Amino acid sequence: MMQSTSHVAIIMDGNGRWAEARGLPRAAGHREGVAAVRRTVEAALNHGIGTLTLYAFSSDNWERPPREVQWLMRLFREYLRSEANRALATGVRISVIGRRDRLPPAVASAIQEAERRTIDGTRLHLRVAVDYSGRDAILRAAQCVVPGGPVTREQFGRLLAIADHGATRTPDVDLLIRTSGEQRLSDFLLWESAYAELLFLPVLWPDFAASDLAAALQQFQGRQRRFGRISAPDGTTRRGAAVSDAVSS
Ligand code: FPP
Repeated sequence: MMQSTSHVAIIMDGNGRWAEARGLPRAAGHREGVAAVRRTVEAALNHGIGTLTLYAFSSDNWERPPREVQWLMRLFREYLRSEANRALATGVRISVIGRRDRLPPAVASAIQEAERRTIDGTRLHLRVAVDYSGRDAILRAAQCVVPGGPVTREQFGRLLAIADHGATRTPDVDLLIRTSGEQRLSDFLLWESAYAELLFLPVLWPDFAASDLAAALQQFQGRQRRFGRISAPDGTTRRGAAVSDAVSS
């Protein structure tokens, strides 16, 4: 089980290819993508993950054909409406990060409603990134810095969280997963992922199963995070030290 403070972020990629491989419209891939979101949230609860951030729609996704954008917006609205009840029952807090001013009003109000209803959830913080851009988030936070005032990383991180979704802090990402075999960050959580462990999986998002999350967490647990030091902050010896010492002696 992961520590409840841990933060897993997922770039859910491959819906279109999943559909095209079956001769289906891309919309069918996105619909199956929603089913994968439900499975993943349930699996995250079972693993005791504290925060799960899902990249649902980047600010660059507005460039997709209007019909696809409309379909995605409809899926977000339906998901938020239908999931709020389940989230309440399971202790999930739902938040949405990203810009709100360009969203269809029905989506913006579904977000507000889901956030309001689930605000007391403490088991898992589910954050859905919609009209999100990591660079824009950093820019907005930078614009809040008072001229001449000192700003620490901690303070800036707080500004970033506030500028993005009204929360007081955003935890650093521990594990960042991208599905579909692409190996890019695509403007996702740039500040928060400074020391994230990255994992690129070949599976297409609609096929992502609870077992994929379990395997990903197992890989994560096998990695030693040193945060730029030669040993982990808890003082454990770095992995591979014995090998390199033997080679150099
Ligand atoms: C990337 O696949 C996926 C998206 C841009 C949309 C993600 C949306 C969902 C998983 C469904 C709705 C989400 C929620 C939270 C309800 P792609 O379309 O870029 O696939 P491709 O690279 O194969 O074309």
